[in-house]
Formats: sequence, C-alpha cells, structure tokens
Amino acid sequence: MPATVIVGLQWGDEGKGKTTDFLAEQVAVVVRYQGGDNAGHTVVVGEETVKLQLCPSGVLYPHITSVIGNGVVVNPATLIRELDMLIGKGIDVSKVRVSRSAHVIMPYHVALDKANEARLGGAKVGTTGRGIGPAYGDRAWRLGLRMEDLVVEDRLRERITRALADKNLLLESMGAERFEVEPLVAQCLAWGERLSPHLDDTTWLVQDALRRGDHVLLEGAQGALLDLDHGSYPFVTSSNPVAGGACTGGGIGPLQVDEVIGVMKAYATRVGSGPFPTELLDDTGRGIAERGREFGTVTGRPRRVGWFDTVPLRYAVAVNSASAIVLNKLDILSGIETIKLCVAYEIDGKRTETWPSSGAMLANAIPIYEDFPGWDEPIHDVRSLADLPENARRYVTALEDHAGVPIVFVSVGPERTQTIERAWRPMRHRPGVQA
Ligand code: GDP
Ligand code: IMO
Ligand code: MG
Repeated sequence: MPATVIVGLQWGDEGKGKTTDFLAEQVAVVVRYQGGDNAGHTVVVGEETVKLQLCPSGVLYPHITSVIGNGVVVNPATLIRELDMLIGKGIDVSKVRVSRSAHVIMPYHVALDKANEARLGGAKVGTTGRGIGPAYGDRAWRLGLRMEDLVVEDRLRERITRALADKNLLLESMGAERFEVEPLVAQCLAWGERLSPHLDDTTWLVQDALRRGDHVLLEGAQGALLDLDHGSYPFVTSSNPVAGGACTGGGIGPLQVDEVIGVMKAYATRVGSGPFPTELLDDTGRGIAERGREFGTVTGRPRRVGWFDTVPLRYAVAVNSASAIVLNKLDILSGIETIKLCVAYEIDGKRTETWPSSGAMLANAIPIYEDFPGWDEPIHDVRSLADLPENARRYVTALEDHAGVPIVFVSVGPERTQTIERAWRPMRHRPGVQA
C-alpha cells in the first residue's frame, strides 16, 4: 500500500510543485487534499512553466490520475480556467477527478474574504482573497455547497437561498454588494454542466488504487506553519496542510500512509501577516528575494524573506512525522558571504529551542544564529552531493542534523532535472523528535 504524503514544512512556497512533479513519474495517482486556489504550485519542464492552483502537480504526466480530494475547497471558475489552460498546452485532462464532496467556493465567499480583510485594516491576515476562510467556515457551519450540488437545480436554489439570507446581511454591514439567488443558481448550473464529467467518489478511487498496490502521492498545499491548528493563529490558512490532513482530505486512513516527505527551501519566506522571527529587511533579504523570484504565484505580492529557522523545523517534522526531506532552492544562496541559521530563540531573556505555541511569545522571539561560510560558485549543474562546494555540503548537513531525518533530494534549480538525488530507499521511519 504505498502512499506518500508531500507536505510543506515552512510557510508555503517551499517548492512542493516541483517536488510532486519530480516524484510523480513513478506513481499512478496524485491527490490534492486541502486548500484551494490560494495555492500556486510551479512545475518547470524544459522551457515550459506551468502554475497550478487546484490540479495536483502530477497532471502533466499522461499516465496519472489527478484527484482533487474532498478536503479541497474548489472555486469552479478557477478550475475551469485551469483545465482550459492545460488543454491549451495539449495536456489530456480526462483523468482529472474531483471529489463530489469537495466544497465549492462561491462568489460571496470571495466577497466576504475581501470585505473582512478590508475591515480588519492593519490587523488583516493578508489572505490571498480567494474566499478560503469563508468557504471552510460554511463547511464547518453546515451551510456549504458541495461539488455534487452543482448539478441539482432544486437543491442549489434551496442552499443558496438559505446561505444568502445571512451572507447578504454581513456583506451589506461591511459596505459590500449583495448577491441575488437566481444569477448564482444559473452560474452554478453552468459550472456543474462543465465539471460533471470530472466528478467522482474519489475516496473509493484512492482506496481501489491502494488495494491494487498502485503508488499514490498526496500533495499538500501551503505549509505546516500556516496550518489552522499548528501555525501562528490567526495568521494561518483555514485548513490542515499537515500530513494528518491528507487522511481527512484525501480519503485514506493513518495506517495507509507509508512515507511523509517534508519539503523545505534553503531559506524562509512568508506571504501575508504574522510573526516571522528571522525576517530579513536588508539588502541580503532583497538579494535572496530577487534571485529566488520570491513573488506570490497567486497574488503577485512580494514574499517576505528570512534566514532558515530550525526552531519551527523541528516542530514541523514532529507534527507531520516527516520521514524524509526535500531541500529546494539551495542555488539561491550561492554568492552570500555568510549564511545564518537560526538554532534557537531568546524569549523574555531565556534561550529556547522549542517552537512556542503562543503567537504572542513568537512575536517576542529574538533569533540566535549560527554562522556558516557561504560559497560563490553557481550550483545549478551539480547532480551529486559530492560535487557541491564543501561549504554548501556543510550547510545541508547542518539542516539535516536539525531535522533529524534524511534529506533525500537537494534541488539546485526550478527545472525538473535540476535535482540531486541521494541514494534513498523509501522507508517507514517514525522519528521521535525532541523539541
Ligand atoms: P509551492 O507552492 O510549494 O509549490 O512553491 P511555488 O511554486 O509557489 O514556489 C517555488 C518557486 O521556486 C517556483 O517558482 C519554482 O519554480 C521555484 N523552484 C523550486 N525549486 C527550485 C530550486 O531548487 N531552485 C530555484 N532557483 N527555483 C526553484
Ligand atoms: P502554496 O500552496 C504561501 C497564506 C496567505 C495568508 C494566509 C491565509 O503555494 O504554498 P488564505 O488565502 O489561505 O486564507 O490566506 O495563508 N497562504 C499562502 N502562503 N503559499 C501558499 O500556498 C499560501 N496559501 C495561503 O498569504 O498569509
Ligand atoms: Mg506556492
């Protein structure tokens, strides 16, 4: 039953798309299990760059069944645009399956997200404005529409009427425009007609694949530090990117997961508000942002950049039970004289290596750094760890030591082939991680 979960270990944009695409060649099914079109996953194959928001990053391979699982919130307009974009590139999308139980992001969710952020002013979360929070909120409040509802006119009308009763009150109270029932019903029916060939019971699809012995990859969006439960609340997303979310959102049980691959990059970025102890506001940070092209895939916002922080890394490895790690974007650090690695915090005069559960404590954390001498040479063409500059190897080893699990791939460029593979046998490894 080989099922492998791919999960971000930082604040998103770690290169999950590249990692999933790289590993997908050998698998039969790839599943997105949470999040929505707040995600932007980039896959680069040769000269072609594809940015995916809802389809899993295995969709470029013709042999793969691509699943949008029940835990995803789907904006049908984005999905249709994405399918059209893929078709335009000559990609067969007939194997894209969308869970009938996945919730729909409605236009009023997007409007509520934007109006609420505007109302919060300086206290805003800095969401992607895609309606993610309101859609998951309605799911929990049992007011949501599911993909299966898009093809049943009576049910659509009934559910939209019920939802709009209070959505419109709320929107008007925030100075936003109200929505009418019938145009929304017509819009949903049009979406349903287009997407109905893709709707499926994806839990059984995944279970059948596992029973056959097919390899299933489950691709997380966002990252552990944006997790609704584990991130610095309220500066989080509204779902569970951690590996546990792959079970609830992908339709598998915990004992069916064989491997959890944590994805991280060689430095840190964060989009939106919230504490970021190692943030760099100087020329070094700006240089990394420029070389790493750190602009949001979805919103185009500049990403905040900082040194790698091992304090949340240990937490992320623990809560995901990560059994292996992929390290991306090592090439972006070439040319930096001294690389700093955060190994602990000072909070209220005390040293701690433990990720604080309280956002307020985190806001007061002063990073304690270890310095690593850098390297000058570009490393895009390196394909074995032994050929990396010695200082780069030392930095990779330090990250591995802090994580306590093996780094199995090191990525040195965005393209599929710009990857150093280490001798690695997939294994089920349960690390006991110390705080
Ligand atoms: P995701 O959301 O985790 O899938 O990551 P994004 O796609 O939003 O952001 C990662 C960006 O880094 C993309 O533009 C990738 O093409 C790029 N990328 C991934 N790995 C590497 C790498 O090793 N080196 C460089 N230079 N770019 C990379
Ligand atoms: P991928 O999958 C980075 C951030 C937003 C904001 C917070 C809440 O590409 O790694 P939301 O719109 O989800 O309600 O916003 O989460 N965020 C991401 N940051 N990468 C992402 O996705 C993100 N998806 C959401 O910037 O801070
Ligand atoms: Mg991204």
